[in-house]
Amino acid sequence: MADIGTDINRAMQILNSDELIAIPTETVYGLAGNALNENSILKIFQVKDRPFFDPLIVHTNNLERITDYVKYIPDILMEMANALMPGPFTIILEKTKAIPDLVTSGSDKVAFRIPNHPLSLKLLAELSYPLAAPSANPFGYISPTTAKHVQDQLGHKIEYILDGGECAVGLESTIVEWKENKLHVLRKGGITIESLLEYTKEIEILENSSSNPIAPGMLKSHYAPKIPVMISPPLAAIGNYNIERIGVLAFQKTRKVIPLENQLILSKSGDLNEAARNLFAYMRILDSMDIDLIITELFPEIGLGRAINDKLRRAATV
Ligand code: TXA
Ligand code: MG
Repeated sequence: MADIGTDINRAMQILNSDELIAIPTETVYGLAGNALNENSILKIFQVKDRPFFDPLIVHTNNLERITDYVKYIPDILMEMANALMPGPFTIILEKTKAIPDLVTSGSDKVAFRIPNHPLSLKLLAELSYPLAAPSANPFGYISPTTAKHVQDQLGHKIEYILDGGECAVGLESTIVEWKENKLHVLRKGGITIESLLEYTKEIEILENSSSNPIAPGMLKSHYAPKIPVMISPPLAAIGNYNIERIGVLAFQKTRKVIPLENQLILSKSGDLNEAARNLFAYMRILDSMDIDLIITELFPEIGLGRAINDKLRRAATV
């Protein structure tokens, strides 16, 4: 199994020898390797069992370092980046040759983000290269929000997990691209659409595809537990299941007929930030129960509710 700790020197040593570690961020834990080194990048795809058509996000500790690897940053993205980074915000930019094609799945554009976590910022500041880091889960499964989540699934494949505690946001970064005078939102995440609207009214939310039609994050089975998930099913649909063997993932309230011990409430007080923070951890708990079905419900389509709904829709398989 992997060692779990807060030793930045050890983390650097491993990365410098082209190996991978897991790093904490405010969104989810990342599986990190040297973004400029093809060996490290290959290992990321192997360890995650990730298809090569799904590009990786590159992480740095400041905006100046991003400019070293891209052709230019449009003014509006610069303004947004200054305000929203470090934070759960990822921008797509035209890359220079320094970024290997393997990172971007052959695209001439690269995704950059500055994670808002003190340990990872410190690590990134000390490294001479940026880190490519997808979420540290096997491809298609729920993203990890604690070091233990990473250990449970990838612990046998990596040497070290940098432990930064529980992720404060709990949802992946919002990914945007400025194209044809519009802000294209490729993935809804920790920065809300409402906050993006403070910078431009020209926003296009891509619901079912990203710049790449077979893209990532858009695959139906993404973020999915192994147990089938159903969104607010009609009573008739529940009838096919044994009530004792149903689990519930709800926003604020439990359901009457289903055993209370099988029900997880994301935020009793109705706080969307709290619900987002608990979402992936609670999905994992339900997925480890001896049940046949997970019932969930959609959130209000505001703030982080939109990103939560997006994850739930992708997790829903029946
Ligand atoms: O919050 C996050 O962004 C986390 C933490 C670890 O930073 N990372 C993360 O990475 O969620 P991952 O690999 O699970 O999702 C990255 C997604 C890809 O699935 C893809 O949709 C998009 O980012 N992406 C990356 N590079 C891209 C590019 N060049 N063009 C379009 N989409 C890109
Ligand atoms: Mg992911």
